[in-house]
Amino acid sequence: MTPAEQHNPCTNPPYGIQLAGIGAFVPKATLTNADLEGLVDTNDEWITSRTGIKQRHIVSGDETVGELAIAAAKDTLASAGMEGKDLDLIIVGTSTPDTIYPAVACQVQHAIGATNAAGFDLSLACSGFVYGTVVAQQFLMSGMYKTALVMGADIHSRTVDWTDRNTCVLFGDGSGAAIYTAEQGAPNRFFANDLHMDGSFGKELTLYTNFDNCPTVEPRTPRTKPEQLLYMNGREMFKFATRVVPESINTTLKKANMTLDDIDYVVLHQANIRIMESMSERLGIPPEKLITHIAPVGNTSAASIPIAINHAVRTGKIKKGHKLLLCGFGAGAAWGSTILEWTAVDQRPPLSEAAMADTAAAHPVLEPALA
Ligand code: COA
Repeated sequence: MTPAEQHNPCTNPPYGIQLAGIGAFVPKATLTNADLEGLVDTNDEWITSRTGIKQRHIVSGDETVGELAIAAAKDTLASAGMEGKDLDLIIVGTSTPDTIYPAVACQVQHAIGATNAAGFDLSLACSGFVYGTVVAQQFLMSGMYKTALVMGADIHSRTVDWTDRNTCVLFGDGSGAAIYTAEQGAPNRFFANDLHMDGSFGKELTLYTNFDNCPTVEPRTPRTKPEQLLYMNGREMFKFATRVVPESINTTLKKANMTLDDIDYVVLHQANIRIMESMSERLGIPPEKLITHIAPVGNTSAASIPIAINHAVRTGKIKKGHKLLLCGFGAGAAWGSTILEWTAVDQRPPLSEAAMADTAAAHPVLEPALA
């Protein structure tokens, strides 16, 4: 390990961090594999066997990523038994904001009455939630802030080319979030982090903007397919992820002075079931320790990790005291891991049995009406 990797600021910081809440939200409209058969030359068997995805939730009409984030923020506040004014910091991992500015964090801040909070958006695609979590830790451990809301929110259904079967079957829309709190002298429930990026992989997964030049100068070269905002080389991303993620997980465990035996659940970015299984095999993670929640929602980018955790908390799998290892990876390329202990006691009313069954089958959360 490099000297930077050996230093672990999570060990006895002045302020220790606890987990206070978790929440998620997906839009109501769904797109099943059967629906996709009507759009592109594909079939349920191919999608299920190559990705593990059965359906995705997608925005319709004028729904926005801001609305998804606001709904998830409210769900998370309810889980923590808090109000917007209790927050000091809001970080939103998103690469699909409705507007570049104002930031989604500003929209959330206003909607939930977080009058005391600073915040910003963080654009690191599928790594956004893990990066946001590690950034928030630094503010909390130093004592600068006491309560942070970290979110992932993305709507890739407006970025994919719906005639490109290589990418349009993969993504779903959604938002998820966690609240972390800090207290002077309290034990720190984060044990170690590891963050990386490698810009040489940028070309393998790119989301373009469509801005044009001033009309007085030469126009920009149009792309072959102007509607194709999102380009992905799936095979290269697969190879990259299965190489770097196990390395990052091992580094984080080493820094925390832990082994996989100390971890109750591993929550990887829910990109593709085969990627997750391949990584688990390489690392020797038993299947029962791997949280997978991709079949009902697809790859929800920055939102995938909190959506998966929320589902596991809501259905009674993740409980207070469990140690979790989170790892996000994706475009940039950027990737990172963090290890934490689950300390939150969910303040939301428990789901009914019917809702639990429905949640397990299809939805990461009940479908609250959009405010
Ligand atoms: N339905 C049916 N066939 C499809 C298809 C679809 N939706 N998409 C691609 N195919 C075809 C290809 O055209 C190819 O056909 P050919 O052999 O006649 O050329 C064949 O299936 C195999 O394509 P390939 O790209 O090799 O498939 P794959 O096994 O690599 O799976 C991905 C493709 C995208 C599922 C896989 O590469 C992947 O998951 N990559 C990582 C993507 C990812 O996670 N990105 C986000 C990282 S954050």
